[in-house]
Amino acid sequence: MATYRISHCERLAGEVSIHAAKNAVLPLMCAGLLTREPLTIEHVPSLTDVQVLAEILADCGVSQRREEGSLTLWSDEPQSPMGADLLSRMRASVLVMGPLLARTGYARVALPGGCAIGQRPIDLHLKGMEAMGARVQLTPGSVTLQGQLRGGNVYLDFPSVGATENILLAAVLAEGTTRIENAAKEPEVSDLCDCLKMMGASIDGAGTGTIVIQGQKQLHGGVYRPVPDRIEAGTILCAAAMTEGSVLLRGVRVDHMRAMLFKLTETGVTLRETPSGLRISGRASQPIQVRTLAYPGFPTDMQAPMMALALRLRGTSLFMETVFENRFMHAREMTRLGAAIRIEDRLALVTGGRLLSGTDVTSTDLRGGAALMLAGLAAEGETVLHDPTGHIARGYEDLPGMLGALGANIITQID
Ligand code: UD1
Repeated sequence: MATYRISHCERLAGEVSIHAAKNAVLPLMCAGLLTREPLTIEHVPSLTDVQVLAEILADCGVSQRREEGSLTLWSDEPQSPMGADLLSRMRASVLVMGPLLARTGYARVALPGGCAIGQRPIDLHLKGMEAMGARVQLTPGSVTLQGQLRGGNVYLDFPSVGATENILLAAVLAEGTTRIENAAKEPEVSDLCDCLKMMGASIDGAGTGTIVIQGQKQLHGGVYRPVPDRIEAGTILCAAAMTEGSVLLRGVRVDHMRAMLFKLTETGVTLRETPSGLRISGRASQPIQVRTLAYPGFPTDMQAPMMALALRLRGTSLFMETVFENRFMHAREMTRLGAAIRIEDRLALVTGGRLLSGTDVTSTDLRGGAALMLAGLAAEGETVLHDPTGHIARGYEDLPGMLGALGANIITQID
């Protein structure tokens, strides 16, 4: 259980370096199931999601070596994980399904957990595996898939990030050609494609809605450095904007962040790309309208941090959440600090500029928890943020430390 004591913060200033993206690293780790040769992932962030997935992969027979920030994985004889516990703790664990099935012709996995931000079914993952010839059997709490995979065509009803990645991780070893239509275009999906290509896979169309994979008999190892975390970067940008700060973010990919940078600019802040990184400065004051969408639209993972920023904007900001059906849980906690937020189904109306006062709040999910930390910076006095299940540390490597390096005063207590 983590508790964060957050003091009011007048202004953030300084520079921070952005870590590698959680959502890139997790699928890359699952690529370790695809080869006997060592696959080294560089700059792996220290996150509980990474730790949990490493344990799941160990349970799947993946050998691992961790040295100075890099993680090396290889698997001689992969097998389905025995423990259901760990799998039910994180959503991304379902990504072991595709590579296990492709490599061994069999996969049995417990149905995944993760943040309770919606129903989060895996029907599209299964549809992809079926298109490649797998027989799927659903039992309460788990799913079993069997069959020698061959190429197939699949249309995703929604460009699901996880389903696209799972199908990719299977199709690279399936015999023949697989075509994914309405594939996810997120930078983390393209990153997985780049890594798989480095391992010898044949993939065309990464970053577009149609990805074509030519299966190979086997893949080899290699060394890969994942993309920076655009959501961590966006969270810091929101924190800076909330405090009229001047912050330099090192190691970001601005081309991955266009939608959120447009929205931030609409609030009135100044964003400047420099040779050393992305600098944010100026005053955020204008309300915004945000509609979450699949990439290159505004990322749903930035909705909560952006809502924290909206608490400081004069007038009413509007948030429409179209990706997940239950992703406003943080709003209720924000109202405890004095925020004026009205929720109507998938719409949140945030009237900013109200005085916020520190009190006890509880982290609701990963991004919601981070957003509450930002809201605590804006509140008068002290905000005590309870994170009983450690949501924030699942996806941010030391967010309080990063904000602290910029001048925030956040005391972390781990029980
Ligand atoms: C990934 C990210 C998460 C991000 C999300 C959307 C990782 C580890 N997590 O999650 O941070 O918020 O993308 O950008 O990369 N859906 C179905 N059926 C399926 C799969 C998904 O209906 O089989 C629905 C989901 O319920 C959700 C929507 O599609 O409403 C998006 O989900 P998806 O893109 O799959 O998200 P994740 O891969 O779980």
